[in-house]
Amino acid sequence: MNIIAISGSLRKDSYNTALLRGMQLLVPAGMQIEIATISTLPLYDSDTEATFPATAQELKNKIAAADGIIISTPEYNRSIPGVLKNAIDWLSRPYGKNSFAKKPVLVAGVSGGKIGTAVAQSHLRQILLHLDADIIGQPELYLGPASEIFDEEGNIADDSTKELLTKALTVLADRIK
Ligand SMILES: Cc1cc2nc3c(=O)[nH]c(=O)nc-3n(C[C@H](O)[C@H](O)[C@H](O)COP(=O)(O)O)c2cc1C
Repeated sequence: MNIIAISGSLRKDSYNTALLRGMQLLVPAGMQIEIATISTLPLYDSDTEATFPATAQELKNKIAAADGIIISTPEYNRSIPGVLKNAIDWLSRPYGKNSFAKKPVLVAGVSGGKIGTAVAQSHLRQILLHLDADIIGQPELYLGPASEIFDEEGNIADDSTKELLTKALTVLADRIK
């Protein structure tokens, strides 16, 4: 099972990217997770869709070849970051070639506070529902505060978080099967 993971944060020390790196170490047998980059995507512009940007096409190709998707997102102003929405908009195009259709998608998020990106993930689930993704309903991964999850090197140090993520990855594997 090949999984493409997308972090909604571009920053180097992102908790959400660190979460995806941690998940790479918790996969069930037969699963591998590749973390894709969205930082090279141009801002979506329908004028450039006819000559689809190479970076966007490359990401679409990776997802087309993948068995499932994981998205870990920060919460920005009670929604998802613009960079993540931009990536989703590219991946939904061209019309009729939506990359999310029928794909199993596991949604996660880490925040500095206790709310754990719940509002952002709720928005993300609405978008993914519209895109006909096969969204994993449970477990929900509203993770925070980040200071209680990661050590200083950005490794997942909390056992209950590791257990929850292991369970979520198993659910994703079962959904793919
Ligand atoms: C523009 C902006 C808006 C934010 N809005 C929220 C918010 O609505 N809720 C929240 O819990 N945190 C909010 N935060 C804090 C982020 O959750 C925090 O920066 C988090 O570490 C970002 O994720 P990352 O570590 O993966 O980059 C916001 C941060 C920024 C930069």
